[in-house]
Amino acid sequence: MSGDRFVVRGGVPLRGAVQISGSKNAALPILAAALLTREEVVLDNLPLIEDIRRMLALLGSLGVKIDLDESAHRVRIRSADLRSFTIDGEHATAMRASFLTMGPLLARVGQGIAPAPGGCAIGRRPVNVDIKGFTAMGATCREEDGVYKFTADRLVGQRLYLDYPSHTGTENLLMAACLAKGRTIIKHASTEPEVVALAECLVRMGAKIRGAGSSLIEIEGVGELYGVHLRCLSDRIEAGTFAIAGLMTGGDVTLHDVNVAHLEPVTHKLADVGGVIEEGDNWVRVRANGHLRACELQTLPYPGFPTDLQACFAALLTQAEGTSFVHERVFDDRLGYVSELRKLGADIRTSGGQTAHIDGPSQLHGAETRAGDLRAGAALILAGLVADGETEISDIHHIDRGYEQLDGKLRNLGARIERVRVREPARASHN
Ligand code: EPU
Repeated sequence: MSGDRFVVRGGVPLRGAVQISGSKNAALPILAAALLTREEVVLDNLPLIEDIRRMLALLGSLGVKIDLDESAHRVRIRSADLRSFTIDGEHATAMRASFLTMGPLLARVGQGIAPAPGGCAIGRRPVNVDIKGFTAMGATCREEDGVYKFTADRLVGQRLYLDYPSHTGTENLLMAACLAKGRTIIKHASTEPEVVALAECLVRMGAKIRGAGSSLIEIEGVGELYGVHLRCLSDRIEAGTFAIAGLMTGGDVTLHDVNVAHLEPVTHKLADVGGVIEEGDNWVRVRANGHLRACELQTLPYPGFPTDLQACFAALLTQAEGTSFVHERVFDDRLGYVSELRKLGADIRTSGGQTAHIDGPSQLHGAETRAGDLRAGAALILAGLVADGETEISDIHHIDRGYEQLDGKLRNLGARIERVRVREPARASHN
């Protein structure tokens, strides 16, 4: 784990164009879906970020053949011969998406072992939706010391009603149902665009799926799935991060290669606080036009405002005139960044554990801060862009999990941000 940190010197309005990368949360389930077929799956527009590298390492540990062409942002995956069905503890605790291998493994080989997954520390992250669904489809689940052991003969299609429209839960059950016997209906399914992207991938692999993007998905199981070559969906969270950064610095930023409809929950709110938005087929321009206005915001499953941009938007609201309220309604502990923003001088406090009250605008001042999780880290960079003096952000390994070249892309827009690399001390020689 690197001890690198970012140093940001604020005060420059961001201007220019930025190319948005492939989506982390769309790529991860598609990589897991490659376990469903013996044939080759090729994914273009792959984001080169730590979570993707970890998922590829995890698949490699199961015997999957991986051929990563970094310059082309392309990976070729072939899961013809699997040698293991067990996810090791390190991969599992590092990444929630590690659990996305369970649906495909159960469906294809009838077994899978995975520790309870970790990921960003943003509140409770159970997998009971996944487990209930697998069990209803005929799998057996035994849990010992936090490790889940699944076995099944061929899964059998069922009518599933999800207790919560879990994003990864829906994806896991969708993948499992593709090779199950008969029809599965998933009611109260997640409608997130990344779930739709996975369903589109599965359909191109030969699956029979209807209704993805709505809360009722129907899957008719098939006997086999085939290879596919596809392009990863663009990352709406990365796009939203740059849009927010552009507006809060008083700048003018154009996002290229975005899905404009997927960004609407964010652009709607940016317009609400005073941003000027222009849109084309696959681009969005966001520019400032005078003062920002306070607003009330709540995060909700798509098409609500995304929880993954909650912290960044709160950073923006420190620059808005008046009192803003930000309600986190998806995760139960995602306001950890508030104490870090206060170090910069933001007038922000929490109530009830899930609401932030922000009084603005505040002149922020550089300080030493720590990224507690991926999106909190991004929010601190954004705050640093409007602070005077120098802001340091440590523990940026969290940020590297989900943003490709965030510092480089910001520099291209005029930001003054540097990565300070920390070399690990050379090990003492004992020979
Ligand atoms: N939940 C349950 N029961 C379950 C599963 C979830 O009650 O069985 C609850 C959780 O406690 C949480 C809420 O549902 O309060 C949301 O969890 P969900 O399962 O929908 O989210 P996730 O699959 O853990 C994915 C993304 C997150 C993103 C959320 C919401 C991946 C790998 N992760 O998480 O991304 O915030 O959906 O859109 O796709 C990030 O990229 O920074 C990130 C955290």
